[in-house]
Amino acid sequence: MNMLTVDDMDLNGKTVFIRVDMNVPIHPDTLKIIERIRISEASTTIKELEHARVVVGSHQGRVGRYDYTDLSQHAEILEGMIGRKVMFVEDVMGPEARRRIEGMKDGDVLLLDNLRFCAEENYEFAPKDAANTVMVRRLARFMDACILDCFPSAHRAHPSIVGFPYLLPACAGRLVAREVQSLDRVLTVAKGPYVVILGGSKISDRLEAIETLIQGGRADKVLLTGLISIIFLMAQGRFKANKLGIKEEALVEKARKLMQKYPNVFMLPVDYATENNGERVEKNLDEFTDDDTILDIGSKTIESYEKVISGAGTIFMSGPAGAFEREQFAYGTKTLLEIVARSLSTTIVSGGHMTAALQRFGLSDKVDHISTAGGALVLYLAGKKLPMMEVLEMAYERVAAKA
Ligand code: 3PG
Repeated sequence: MNMLTVDDMDLNGKTVFIRVDMNVPIHPDTLKIIERIRISEASTTIKELEHARVVVGSHQGRVGRYDYTDLSQHAEILEGMIGRKVMFVEDVMGPEARRRIEGMKDGDVLLLDNLRFCAEENYEFAPKDAANTVMVRRLARFMDACILDCFPSAHRAHPSIVGFPYLLPACAGRLVAREVQSLDRVLTVAKGPYVVILGGSKISDRLEAIETLIQGGRADKVLLTGLISIIFLMAQGRFKANKLGIKEEALVEKARKLMQKYPNVFMLPVDYATENNGERVEKNLDEFTDDDTILDIGSKTIESYEKVISGAGTIFMSGPAGAFEREQFAYGTKTLLEIVARSLSTTIVSGGHMTAALQRFGLSDKVDHISTAGGALVLYLAGKKLPMMEVLEMAYERVAAKA
């Protein structure tokens, strides 16, 4: 991969925009950050830039969702991690943000507010058009360079990711460089059968991911857990208990089509765990009622999945199998991770939740690659060109052409 890194640029005394991904899990009730690994990953490059004026940009959540918050908590956490003051401005591109950027001195770090508060950041653009957005036009004139260090968002062609590098000298941050180098190393030895274990809650993204992985030759078997498995079971007419909203109905239809198109690929749970008076109770599919909330996969499911996982050449696991934050519902996620960790195959585990789960269960050093990226990693594994990687290549070629 042709890309520049921070080692190729002299950033001392420069004003630098660094696009990181501090999109972290937020507790739905308290709205507090409950897991900070992505902030820690973002902190490495920022910490290193001791003599630059560092303007940090990130998104958090999606418009309309509970996790769509401001970045004031992120600023505090980041400050603790880099060991120097992080100024936070409740603005993205308005007069206050620009005034604060203009007033920066060498060594200052300024965190802009959630970039998605700016409407343009919720749309995808070609780099040239992204460079012409109001956000990029207003901010780029203060910057000497930009660093892309948002590997989990590498698949998004948002203005802050593809617009600034169109106008400014650009390079990869430490996180992006580490992910790309490690993944390329892991993928050169990866072999089939490819087993994908998918859970988590971003279902529409996951449906796309599945097809991408199958078409890219990276998914011979797909073992489903979590909410997405319920969607597939409903598509088969084997699970009727959960009432779904309109959006989910459309997803059921997509799941049905996927199973028709790829008949022997999917494995689905045969049992789940729910809660009864605070206790974990496992039930077969036909025993569930509308009142039961599914909180984990059951033991019979794990047993059947283990057989397939043991025969894999390469395993990719993304998204927890259940509500693993709660002790009695961590069983599915923990046991699957232990099986993956024991296997002799090439193992890749992805997503912020899974990174946290690996740490919690003491398994982090037992897998070949851990990435906090979700959708971006899936596309990378399937061999897709990611917008962030394309602009990094463009920035490299610009420099190479001049040399
Ligand atoms: C992610 O968590 O996958 C990235 O932060 C991108 O977030 P998005 O899927 O909301 O664009």
